[in-house]
Amino acid sequence: MAEEIIVPKGLVNVIVDKTAIATTDGNGNLLYRGYKVVELVEKKSFEDAAYLIVNGRLPDQKEKDEFSYKIRSNFGVDAEARKVIEILKEKDLMRALRNIVSFYHYKHTQVDDLMLEMAAKFPEFISLSYRLSHGLEPLEPIEGTYSERFYHLITGKKDPLKAKYLGMLMTLYMEHEFNASTFALRVTASTLADPISSFTTALATLKGPLHGGANSEILDFFKNFNNTEEAVRYVDQQIAKGEKVMGFGHRIYKRLDPRAQFVKAKLKEIAPDSKILQIAEVVENRMWEKKSVPANLDFYAAIYMDILGISQDFYTPLFAASRVFGWIAHYKEQLADNRLIRPSSSYSGPLGLKL
Ligand code: COA
Repeated sequence: MAEEIIVPKGLVNVIVDKTAIATTDGNGNLLYRGYKVVELVEKKSFEDAAYLIVNGRLPDQKEKDEFSYKIRSNFGVDAEARKVIEILKEKDLMRALRNIVSFYHYKHTQVDDLMLEMAAKFPEFISLSYRLSHGLEPLEPIEGTYSERFYHLITGKKDPLKAKYLGMLMTLYMEHEFNASTFALRVTASTLADPISSFTTALATLKGPLHGGANSEILDFFKNFNNTEEAVRYVDQQIAKGEKVMGFGHRIYKRLDPRAQFVKAKLKEIAPDSKILQIAEVVENRMWEKKSVPANLDFYAAIYMDILGISQDFYTPLFAASRVFGWIAHYKEQLADNRLIRPSSSYSGPLGLKL
């Protein structure tokens, strides 16, 4: 029998494979294919970043146009997916998205095209599920950039500036190396399962409150406070009980999450007088004082989406619609050099029981 290696619970600090898609450098910067994400967000569009993540380099104008066209032309809900959405009328949009994606027919032989088609459809799957489950008329997609169309689909409004801010957040959400949903997707891909199955795994994993589900809980937390004193009291109580405060802590960032700091800085530009933002900063400082855990992206993203006029129902699905481009890259990377991911376990049950 081969030598066994016992790794820490939760695979903390265990490097399980190589990736050329994203990493965190020695200074705590998140890099996408070598570029600092906070610079990409300022200087490049969501489509540029998605192309970079999926294809490994930034596009030239022609490549960008073709990529944007491919996404735009795959927007839309086909008859079968629409039937599923109409039957489900599901208000929990992550549950809706997972069901619609898993139902999706596997008609392409071209896996790359299928994955891009799927990613392009996420915004409308989400929008239509929301509208039908709330008895609202579906929205027709508008012309414009990816984030303009997405912003319209989830708010019903045309607002290029807010859409631009939304695109920035979506770029920040797009990729984060072996996070739980991406790793789950890679496990599924490593069995040579098709991309639809792999995306379904990733969506199911993203839903949990320790991962993508965190952002939809954070706003509820803020809505309970009238002032900073109440917020601090709540934080202190949670810590005294040994409970987690949503939006804090991260497996990789132990001092600062650069994405959270970027969003906080943007919030100060967009809404300098926001009461929630003031409470958030006090909570952030208190958490650091008490537990030395930093605010993560979800903490400030929840406030940011609220200020952009986006309903809480969309927070985690919006994360999914961004991260799906990372999932495409990881699916391809896993299969380019595949070995079945199948760890061993240390058995702790009984032995030798007699019947
Ligand atoms: N609130 C309070 N304390 C927290 C905390 C939080 N949100 N996150 C971490 N901690 C504390 C833990 O209690 C632990 O303290 P201890 O050593 O005194 O027991 C320490 O920080 C390490 O936390 P741990 O849960 O072991 O870290 P992890 O790497 O396994 O978990 C998360 C990372 C993200 C799952 C965890 O921080 C968490 O549950 N956060 C809340 C959910 C969230 O915001 N998720 C979105 C992630 S981007």
